[in-house]
Amino acid sequence: MLVRAVSGANAGSAGRRVVVLGGTSEIALAIVRELQSRAPREVALVGRDPSGLAHAAEDLTGAGCPRALTFELDARDLDRHEQVIGEAFDGLDGADIVILAVGVLGERGGLPADTSGALEVLQVNMVGAGSLLIASARRLRAQGAGTIVVLSSVAGERARAANVVYGASKAGLDALAQGLGDALHDQGVRVLVVRPGFVHTRMTRGLNPAPLATTPQALAHVVVDGLDRGAHTMWAPRTLRWLMLVMRMLPRPLFRRLKQ
Ligand SMILES: NC(=O)c1ccc[n+]([C@@H]2O[C@H](COP(=O)([O-])OP(=O)(O)OC[C@H]3O[C@@H](n4cnc5c(N)ncnc54)[C@H](OP(=O)(O)O)[C@@H]3O)[C@@H](O)[C@H]2O)c1
Repeated sequence: MLVRAVSGANAGSAGRRVVVLGGTSEIALAIVRELQSRAPREVALVGRDPSGLAHAAEDLTGAGCPRALTFELDARDLDRHEQVIGEAFDGLDGADIVILAVGVLGERGGLPADTSGALEVLQVNMVGAGSLLIASARRLRAQGAGTIVVLSSVAGERARAANVVYGASKAGLDALAQGLGDALHDQGVRVLVVRPGFVHTRMTRGLNPAPLATTPQALAHVVVDGLDRGAHTMWAPRTLRWLMLVMRMLPRPLFRRLKQ
């Protein structure tokens, strides 16, 4: 449910220092641009592709960000998470907002034909992203303030036969984020879980758009408004909240028949 009663240092989108995990993500970069359009932001982009990160950093400075640092990290390289997150935070002298956007879609459907591809989805979206979430939450708790925006998905609300592995990976991450949000609520750390539907990015390129498909820019607007309203869970577009409520209630034989 949407709860708006958050106050104090973590209530809004005002923080200047933004760390992006998945620093080349189209959605995350749209969120940073939306933040930058409201006030100046210093950004640390963390990701696995140095040239993609350099490009993204250049775009952001072109869009007015006073500082855009880059840090190389593969989400599957778990042993380096603490160290690199530490470097990204230290590079900005701390962080006000962390955007967790690391994710892969992988093969759609039920039982995967490609086992290693399916395991990569679980490793990146659930284990890797989960570890990044924990490491960021530790740093924010040590600071005593900060917000983590977690890009979950409606796919994680109830895993569909059309998208089993991705749905399961997002369900795991979503549950971890919700639980940490509650556990850290009184310690200055806020977690905003965002559940987008279909967003037109390179991740979904070539797929048939699902109903209520949206753009990274429209999603970014919803997310930044959610930060300012003190929401802890958001659907984007917002109507999806009600659609997903119905989806969660559908009896199994009916749910099983869904094709998308
Ligand atoms: N697009 C949608 O319809 C949609 C809907 C709901 C939720 N989401 C979620 O939103 C987030 C952002 O997605 P997007 O649409 O912006 O897609 P995107 O542009 O493809 O972003 C995905 C990000 O994850 C990074 N990544 C993938 N594997 C990684 C690894 N092993 N190590 C480090 N980084 C890795 C990518 O880095 P590289 O540039 O190196 O590949 C990229 O920065 C994802 O978590 C996605 O699941 C997307």
